[in-house]
Amino acid sequence: MAKDMLDFNVTQDKTIDASKKLKVGIIGTGWIADAHIQQYLKMPDVEVVAGADLVEGKAEEFFKKNGVEGARCYPDHKSMIDAEPDLDAVSICTYNKTHAECAIYALNAGINVMLEKPMCVTTEEAVEIMRAEKKSGKILSIGFQPRLDPNMIKLKEVVQSGVLGKIYYIQTGGGRRRGIPTPFGTSFISADTGVIGAMGDIGCYSLDMVLNAIGYPKPLTVTGYTSNFFGKNPEYFKAEGKPAEYADVFGVEDFAAGFIRLEGDIMLDFRIAWAMHLDTPGDTIIMGTNGSLRIPSTECWNGSIGGPMKIYHEVAGSPVETEIPMLPGGDNFYNKVRSFLDAIKEGGTAPVPSSQILYNQAIIDGIVKSAKLGHEIEIDIPEV
Ligand SMILES: NC(=O)c1ccc[n+]([C@@H]2O[C@H](COP(=O)([O-])OP(=O)(O)OC[C@H]3O[C@@H](n4cnc5c(N)ncnc54)[C@H](O)[C@@H]3O)[C@@H](O)[C@H]2O)c1
Repeated sequence: MAKDMLDFNVTQDKTIDASKKLKVGIIGTGWIADAHIQQYLKMPDVEVVAGADLVEGKAEEFFKKNGVEGARCYPDHKSMIDAEPDLDAVSICTYNKTHAECAIYALNAGINVMLEKPMCVTTEEAVEIMRAEKKSGKILSIGFQPRLDPNMIKLKEVVQSGVLGKIYYIQTGGGRRRGIPTPFGTSFISADTGVIGAMGDIGCYSLDMVLNAIGYPKPLTVTGYTSNFFGKNPEYFKAEGKPAEYADVFGVEDFAAGFIRLEGDIMLDFRIAWAMHLDTPGDTIIMGTNGSLRIPSTECWNGSIGGPMKIYHEVAGSPVETEIPMLPGGDNFYNKVRSFLDAIKEGGTAPVPSSQILYNQAIIDGIVKSAKLGHEIEIDIPEV
């Protein structure tokens, strides 16, 4: 694979042509919107001109906190997009439930979209978003910033080099002993806002790490399991210094597992936990006919791999281990936003394309559906 397909070639030092300014709006001005605006404010070719949030006064407070004057504020995505037809791009930073409606509305209005992960909450929604993207001809990039990390790029280079031979089995995922996210309330844990839990928050990153490395083969079947033993327990939240009533609100999974058959006769064994009685459910491993790769990575959602990767292979008939030295980390979040803007300005393609993340979403959706039915299912992905 060509180097330029693996390396996003964006750094904070790259000269930015500021003669053409991009007008940007932010939809949803909660926690992650801060990270978006902080990147935009570093860029001389960006003007953040508008923001929207369902909570009265939240967008105004957000701009004030970030030192932005003159940005126009709206009570929802529709009113903002209707009133701001000249926007070049929006960052969609809403909770999972409204990702699809915001993305579709923006694309239909001819606006380029940086959509936070997870792409949305069902396969059907992902397909609807992609239909809007196709019709609009605009750029839609999904917010998986760890993909731009130099070690993640190296991981993909190792796999794509062919050193492992034919890949046949992958184990990935991870979790936290205590880590149900309720930083500013219940938007991650309520079925009305998060809709999907640990899988949408952190599991999608583990899936992206391995699927991106092997070229995103299509998922075919899945046996899925989900549970919520920690989230439904008031004692869990009391011990964390949070309101016990969060257990009543809890309407998503705090643990999920899936056994997924991928095109190319590859088995993917995945598990993810927001909370568990365990330190870690294990490293990520990619097994191949000529070698296997161990990635100490149970927290790849924090931006990178958890330590040096190791290849287990044979040299002249002897089993050997090759350690890949860790590379210094990059500014992943900046690069995620910058690569999106560069694609708009230079007529490029989406740095993290929906056509790949559709399969990520289809696996999550398949786990949810299989878990409800209690048996293996075929993963059905409608035509875009
Ligand atoms: N890439 C990352 O590192 C990262 C980190 C944290 C969260 N996220 C993702 O970002 C998303 C948001 O997470 P958060 O923690 O910022 O949530 P949050 O609950 O703090 O903020 C979401 C905001 O969106 C607003 N909103 C919802 N629908 C809206 C609409 N139609 N129009 C306008 N505003 C709307 C809500 O009122 C809320 O203020 C989630 O999907 C999450 O998975 C990504």
